[in-house]
Amino acid sequence: MKRIAILGSTGSIGVNTLNVIAAHKDEFRVVGLTANTNTALLDRQVKRFKPKIYCAAQEAGVEGLIEVATHPDVDLVVMAIVGSVSLVPLLEAIKAKKQIALASKEALVSGGEVVMKAAAKNRVKIIPVDSEHSAIFQCINGRPRQEIKKIYLTGTGGPLRKVHKRMFNAFSPEEMARHPKWNMGKKISIDSATLMNKGLEVIEAKWLFGVPLASIEVLIHPEAVIHSMVEFIDGTVIAQLAATDMRLPIQYALSYPKRLPLRFGLELDFKKTNKLTFCQPDSKKFPCFKLAQDAARDGGTFPAVLNASNEETVLSYLDRKISFTAIPRVIEKVLSKHRSKPSPDLGDILEADSWSREEARILCCR
Ligand SMILES: NC(=O)c1ccc[n+]([C@@H]2O[C@H](COP(=O)([O-])OP(=O)(O)OC[C@H]3O[C@@H](n4cnc5c(N)ncnc54)[C@H](OP(=O)(O)O)[C@@H]3O)[C@@H](O)[C@H]2O)c1
Repeated sequence: MKRIAILGSTGSIGVNTLNVIAAHKDEFRVVGLTANTNTALLDRQVKRFKPKIYCAAQEAGVEGLIEVATHPDVDLVVMAIVGSVSLVPLLEAIKAKKQIALASKEALVSGGEVVMKAAAKNRVKIIPVDSEHSAIFQCINGRPRQEIKKIYLTGTGGPLRKVHKRMFNAFSPEEMARHPKWNMGKKISIDSATLMNKGLEVIEAKWLFGVPLASIEVLIHPEAVIHSMVEFIDGTVIAQLAATDMRLPIQYALSYPKRLPLRFGLELDFKKTNKLTFCQPDSKKFPCFKLAQDAARDGGTFPAVLNASNEETVLSYLDRKISFTAIPRVIEKVLSKHRSKPSPDLGDILEADSWSREEARILCCR
């Protein structure tokens, strides 16, 4: 029995994780749950899964999250909180030597170096939940870094792939949050529309797999059958294919290194898959993708500032305070004002994060 805590159990990843656990009651037990504002759903989850410890972060604060993440009965922590608020509880879970199933990409974007150093020091394995990173992890399958030539990180291109840029502001935030292939939380859905999500995923992959940025290439693959690929030095390319349902990578992250049977009827049907296409992302049409690449290249506290200003501008967009096309403009302005610190420690990252939020809020008039 793996004993599991889910931080962010009321979100899209959290609910899917509980679905996986309910389908494999003989393998997993829920020990801890956390929500933020959705206490009604948390109450229902508590009644059904009977965790030993649970809290709502809006009342219990980060301390509450840390208490759940480091509870002595927990073997594995599923990090499913949206945003860089996940960074501190993630680090505490690592220090408590809990195995990690990581969905909260913002923690790695902001504090990748600090997180990976803590994981190495405490011999903690971080198993990715993000479908692309789960795919890469499965393709690499423990092979040494020197054998990896290239990572092809795929993405559908988001809901605006076929839409002309001049039409971007014609959609409401609610329409924009409806992804053609994946059913996700609001913030990541908007990140998919701006293509910021792919930029964040490149930074996430760099840290998780310890490869240089130059060896990660993003490919737009609208069919979303291949979830990513790895090219090895002998010219072999290994791809991971699966249905587009987050329960699959979540199940793998929970059961790793074992594989468990699929109980959701989600097998791929190759009779219906008659073509697989690939093209390059258009960073002129989607400036957020370029901003993320630049921040990744410049390093230091730039990725933390990119991430925090993105979180704030996406919130402002969802609140109808700014237009969709203002999102990259605000982030670019905040980045241009920032003085980065090389090899930042946790304090530098948190400081850059709150500075960036404040700057973005001012620009969005919030
Ligand atoms: N959804 C996907 O398919 C998917 C795929 C790959 C990666 N991810 C990543 O997984 C993470 C979660 O995404 P999601 O789509 O599941 O998001 P979501 O549906 O918006 O859920 C977010 C969760 O975080 C909690 N939360 C929000 N703010 C918090 C705070 N300040 N303190 C503590 N908890 C807080 C929410 O609690 P309440 O709801 O109770 O307020 C909810 O449980 C993100 O980093 C995302 O990039 C998601």
